[in-house]
Amino acid sequence: MTDTSDLYFRQIQAGDMANFVYLIGSRSTREAVIIDPAWDIPSLLDVAKTDDMTIVGALATHYHQDHIGGSLFGHQIPGLNEFLELNPAPVHVNKLEAPGTSQVSGIAESELVSHEPGDTIELGGITIRLIHTPGHTPGSQCFLVEESNEPGHLVSGDTLFLGSCGRVDLPGSDPEAMYHSLNHTLKALPDETLLFPGHLYSPEGQSTMGEQKATNPMLRVSSLDMFLNFMGG
Ligand SMILES: [Fe+2]
Repeated sequence: MTDTSDLYFRQIQAGDMANFVYLIGSRSTREAVIIDPAWDIPSLLDVAKTDDMTIVGALATHYHQDHIGGSLFGHQIPGLNEFLELNPAPVHVNKLEAPGTSQVSGIAESELVSHEPGDTIELGGITIRLIHTPGHTPGSQCFLVEESNEPGHLVSGDTLFLGSCGRVDLPGSDPEAMYHSLNHTLKALPDETLLFPGHLYSPEGQSTMGEQKATNPMLRVSSLDMFLNFMGG
């Protein structure tokens, strides 16, 4: 990111499951979106407030409780519900996950904006492109943050981690779809794209697509069969 960049970008560790929440916006308009608001919502909103940013929307990578809030193993994780109480704004989801997001987080489906793959959200000079990457869940999406003359930033949720990928043994998971999301959709991104995952499951919190293409076994398999073997399928 150069000095002339309009990008406001914050990676924040949240909760007991090593989640990352992101604040992404425009330094010129002072408007931002929050990605996967969960866990300590007031302190996340405080970060934006301290930075003089207005949160104009929430984006969900997928409908799991540690990313959008909900009941998990008898424990209630705060998420979209509390976010909307404290900071009313549209919640952007992939269209396949609107019912599940409502069910898991407890917010009304009318609060959701359902998106087609490839839709964009504009904030000043920043474009956030919604990339459909099914596999971990049917409507999992990654967010490609684009700005002219700057490398892209990919927020990859539970699809791509540093050195690994999201689980595909959960209800709604699809290992074959994950193979295509990783090895076709995401692998097509330029090497200089910066990568920001949904969890801190590695010593570092960020990487590049070039580094992951070179070192991540999940991006280095040569066939679907090999990938399925890897995943124990
Ligand atoms: Fe997940």
